[in-house]
Amino acid sequence: MSSTSMRTHLCGAVRESNIGHTITVCGWVGRRREHGEHLAFLDIRDHSGIVQCVVDNNVDVRSEYVVQITGVVRARPEGTVNANIPTGAVEIGDCVVVVLNSAEPPPFAIDARADDVDELIRLKFRYLDIRRERLQKNLRLRASINSAIREAMELQGFVEVETPMLMPSTPEGAREFLVPSRKEPGAFYALPQSPQLWKQLLMLAGIDRYYQIARCLRDEDLRADRQYEFMQLDAEMSFVNQDDVLSAIGAAVTAAATAATGHAPPQIERMTWRDAMEQYGVDKPDLRFEMKLVEVTSVFSATEFKAFAGAQSIKAICVDALTYPDAASSGRSKLDAFTDRAKKMGAKGLVWMKVGADLVFDSPVAKFLSDAEKAALLESTGAVQGDLILIVADEWATTCEVLGQLRNDIGRPPVHEGPYRYVWVMDFPLFVGVDPVTGSPRPGHHPFCHPHPEDIELMETDPLKVRALAYDLVLNGWELGSGSIRIHEPELQRRVFNLLGISDEEADKKFGFFLQPFKYGAPPHGGFAFGIDRLTAVLAGEENIREVIAFPKTQSGTDPMTNAPTHVDAKHLTELGLRVLPPPVSA
Ligand code: AMO
Ligand code: AMP
Repeated sequence: MSSTSMRTHLCGAVRESNIGHTITVCGWVGRRREHGEHLAFLDIRDHSGIVQCVVDNNVDVRSEYVVQITGVVRARPEGTVNANIPTGAVEIGDCVVVVLNSAEPPPFAIDARADDVDELIRLKFRYLDIRRERLQKNLRLRASINSAIREAMELQGFVEVETPMLMPSTPEGAREFLVPSRKEPGAFYALPQSPQLWKQLLMLAGIDRYYQIARCLRDEDLRADRQYEFMQLDAEMSFVNQDDVLSAIGAAVTAAATAATGHAPPQIERMTWRDAMEQYGVDKPDLRFEMKLVEVTSVFSATEFKAFAGAQSIKAICVDALTYPDAASSGRSKLDAFTDRAKKMGAKGLVWMKVGADLVFDSPVAKFLSDAEKAALLESTGAVQGDLILIVADEWATTCEVLGQLRNDIGRPPVHEGPYRYVWVMDFPLFVGVDPVTGSPRPGHHPFCHPHPEDIELMETDPLKVRALAYDLVLNGWELGSGSIRIHEPELQRRVFNLLGISDEEADKKFGFFLQPFKYGAPPHGGFAFGIDRLTAVLAGEENIREVIAFPKTQSGTDPMTNAPTHVDAKHLTELGLRVLPPPVSA
């Protein structure tokens, strides 16, 4: 497979079993070391690794020259074996070197040292960055994940259907990328934020099980886990319940993880959204460490301490000395930083209590708490000497979010540290919060999620209590994907729209192209999509999805290599019926 008309072996594949054979390798010149007057050692690199070649010192090859080398494989002399690389016991001697191409000196070394180079430079010369082992490994890992996903989906009877990139702009599409139409100046296509619309139509169309490794585009602020363009495993199934969807997607994730790591991941756990919020303070819990949130409202039900009195929810985390060795010896500046962080997230304050010898609290508020409260606090948090307790009193959502974030800030291990803990977070709320202007509840995900059958009767009376048949897949604190069972009954859909403050006419106007087809026999259906960039990043041990994407955009959305986005000339704009406004004058 690896031999071609120009080479017999890949560089990284040469072994002791090849000793005595004449072989030919092709690749790039890496490190060069002089050896005496007449000889030089060259590391020749291709995607598979490096092999050492001993060449005549007069050969004029420099860093990154492209060469073809033919020679005889031999054992390295004793004492020169390099146990750190797979080809370290051998070298190629008596080499004939053919220079296939010369090269200018590269702007950075094509090895691990480039990890420390400014990322802008790495991205400007991404083709050189990709020559490095790190990117080669990540891109190949990604390919193996894609291939395992396809195989797993097809084994389960999913049919790959490609859906359009040019689609209508939708009313929900605040984050759409628009594409001007040349044939109809002033009109625009939108690029898909996901194939959601199409995949549901494919269920109406009787495809039964659809999947696609789909490119999605969203014009949102970029972060470590977000790019404008990203890839989803997108799937939809007919005549199913949640368990069917979870089982099908679980099989694909398990296959991908197995292909990437060499062993099957543990069973994917399940947790309700409410438990995730109560115990971890976030809807994407990282289960690799404990430090769970504890509800202590009842401990302070009759407290004299002003900040806690009458609070809807009081929660604590116990920062144990194992996870955070400085817990009870944290200095004032550290504790102030925790407090500032809590306040930035909307807390009114943060109480810290260090647990000292004999379980005596060291805290500015200790004097306001009764002995019974202190004892109950120790008991409910399980705190021992050396621990640090952090407490927030507020509305339920605030205590969850603030302590959940502090828990992550303090305890979350780096991404490359195992183990892998996959969890389905189930029963997301159908609505979250209320629109301050209209007073209507806001959809938790999108208005097409099916309400939980047990909660449908609460829809009009207590909408914020209604759970949706909506679920996320979470891995080590990363949201990998989301899905739901969809509403297929027009009457129920109308009820949800009405609750959202959308009248029948408005719904027809806004979503007619989507709702109309549902009149022609929509099967019950549901689906899911997970982010392949994110799954690959976690399995590669990378903190940023840019490291698993061949040509990503920078955090500010640019491409330093091609300079995209670029301005286009006036003629081009005129043809599209567009004119660019001068930048707004700042006040
Ligand atoms: P959702 O919007 O939750 O659901 O997206 C699903 C998954 O796609 C990934 N993802 C991203 N990855 C990188 N960069 C981004 N900007 C980005 N945005 C999303 C995440 C996310 O969990 N149509 C629904 C799914 C469904 O209901 O079937 C959807 O797109 O991993
Ligand atoms: P104050 O009475 O506002 O001076 O606050 C006394 C202490 O309680 C300070 O350490 C505050 O950070 C903390 N605190 C105030 N409000 C809250 C709250 N809602 N939850 C937790 N701690 C608080």
